[in-house]
Amino acid sequence: MISVSQRARSITDSITLAISARAKAMQAEGIDVVSLGAGEPDFGTPEPIAEAGIQAIRDGYTRYTAAAGMPDVRAAAARWFQRQFDLPYEASNVMVTAGAKPALMLAMQSLVNPGDRVLLPAPFWPSYTEIVRLADGVPIPIAGVPEQGFVHTGAQIAAAAEEHGAKGVVLNFPNNPSGAVASRAEIEDIVDAAIAHDLFVISDEIYARLLYDDAEHVSPAAFERARDRVVIVNGGTKSHSMTGWRVGFLAGPAELIAAAARVQSQAVGNTNSISQRAVMAVCDETDPTEFERRRAAFDARRRYLHGAIQSIEGLRLEMPKGAFYALVDCREVCARAAIDDVTFAERLLVDGLVATVPGSPFEMPGFVRLSYAASMEDIERAVQRIGAFVEQLR
Ligand SMILES: Cc1ncc(COP(=O)(O)O)c(C=O)c1O
Repeated sequence: MISVSQRARSITDSITLAISARAKAMQAEGIDVVSLGAGEPDFGTPEPIAEAGIQAIRDGYTRYTAAAGMPDVRAAAARWFQRQFDLPYEASNVMVTAGAKPALMLAMQSLVNPGDRVLLPAPFWPSYTEIVRLADGVPIPIAGVPEQGFVHTGAQIAAAAEEHGAKGVVLNFPNNPSGAVASRAEIEDIVDAAIAHDLFVISDEIYARLLYDDAEHVSPAAFERARDRVVIVNGGTKSHSMTGWRVGFLAGPAELIAAAARVQSQAVGNTNSISQRAVMAVCDETDPTEFERRRAAFDARRRYLHGAIQSIEGLRLEMPKGAFYALVDCREVCARAAIDDVTFAERLLVDGLVATVPGSPFEMPGFVRLSYAASMEDIERAVQRIGAFVEQLR
């Protein structure tokens, strides 16, 4: 009889995907659910990128490629890292992966030995814990700091590193779920803690292009003294609506990238050849006007959502600075109704007909994540329903 391994049994399903599936099932039954649950842009893939994919098939890019990616795609990605983020990467510092999630998986498989502790400053994307576990590492969440705008100090990271004897830390700015963007000084502070405690840094920068107001994206790799310990995860998934294409980048020290490519060669082979050609259009920024139009649309939704949520008594929302999420503080409302954030989100779905994601899976209990990668119309309807739901909870 087949018996599922302990490893596979210990892995949990993605909560965000589960909630999206539940909302879709309710919609399929004819129930009018508004979903602010999914972390997926409501826009299609921009035309030049789609065209590059179609052309790739016509041009015969349908064969195996080198495990790390086609040389010209790696070179284009390296130029993109140089131009967009001012990082002096060469093609040997970049590999093409089947998305940000596999990039994280390859990084973890290439950096973590059994039992190694990896710090996860909360709030963090729930897949991080499972990806650490799949590498036989031990995820160590660090409690969130909403009072600091969700950005930990170097001293807080250092204290956790010391306490747990950690080997590495995963950073994610702009952050899912809070939308927080750490400033240059804050990143430098964390970088110095990482150096002092000899931590590797996996920096998930998949939302780096989605910034608002005067927010600036600073990678930990921007600091030369830390560059040999930083691995970056990036790509066009979120900024260029490429969720289904499954393509992304892992960038860092050439030795680490070569190791990750060996893992990829045995686990995956190579990233889809068509998607590799298509992502070159992201690297070459063939359509900056369209990108800016989309970013501006997210920005308008963000501003509206912030104002509308703040006007609901009992809810609080720190203005998100990046990505397309808002992490709403429901602690007061939950305390009054004697429920937790999971029950809040469940009742909001079943009674209020709005799909959201509770903060608990992000290690941020008492909060609820709203995604504004939804139409303005849906956001307006959702906010009205949330207001009525909170009122009725009183
Ligand atoms: C923080 C973060 N990292 C990585 C990913 C995965 O991106 P991809 O679809 O490129 O694998 C997501 C998707 O939700 C995310 O929110």
